Amino acid sequence: MENEEIVVCQDIEDLNRQAAERFARLAAEFVDHAGRFTLALSGGSTPKGLYARLATPEFQKKISWQQVCFFWGDERCVPPDHPESNFRMAREALLSKVPVLPENIYRMPGENEPEIAALEYEEILKNHLPFANGNVPRFDLILLGLGDDGHTASLFPGNEALQETRRLVVAPYVEKIGAYRLTLTLPVLNSGSHIFFLVAGEAKAAIVRDVLGKKSATENLPAQRIRPKKGRLVWLMDREAASLLNKGKT
Ligand code: 6PG
Repeated sequence: MENEEIVVCQDIEDLNRQAAERFARLAAEFVDHAGRFTLALSGGSTPKGLYARLATPEFQKKISWQQVCFFWGDERCVPPDHPESNFRMAREALLSKVPVLPENIYRMPGENEPEIAALEYEEILKNHLPFANGNVPRFDLILLGLGDDGHTASLFPGNEALQETRRLVVAPYVEKIGAYRLTLTLPVLNSGSHIFFLVAGEAKAAIVRDVLGKKSATENLPAQRIRPKKGRLVWLMDREAASLLNKGKT
């Protein structure tokens, strides 16, 4: 895709630095033009390093934190103080360390009954985001991770949530983990102005090859379904995660 960029960083520190610099540039651009920066955070462990980098004095002063509006791309169906909560991870790594406005934090209500929580979050998106292409809310930046099975956000291989074209947020039951999740749907993810995949480590090398390698022209894996219509997609990964990308090309 002409609107896709692959950035191979030296190591995880370089990945966090490059991601933070791009984040800061985008935040400045959107705050200058629109007075705010709307962001969907990713869960999992990889983004922790970026969040921690953004909380350093170097980046604290580069970003107008009071104009940043925080949303989530997905959430576990747990209370906000639960060890598995994506909100809790972001609060500990970033939100508690920078001068954000509490009213600009729109967490997914993981403590509520899943389907109710999904409907509640849809209303939040409808009330707080501009709509692109008519009927889909548009984020300025969406952060995503990549699972070793090719899932992203909480869109897992073979799950019916991948077929959703109308809803903005759904609450799929994920067999593999034996739990419900809350997740933005593909129409919302693909409506983002900018999408950053953050991928690190040797363990992700095989799935990165499968998702991005030449031979897999299919779109079976959820991460391959992230194809923004007008937005820009950037893969930020370290050398370990990218180590199989140029091998076994067919
Ligand atoms: C989550 C994430 C999930 C994550 C991937 C990669 O809630 O866990 O949304 O999609 O990004 O599983 O996770 P790691 O970054 O921990 O490898």
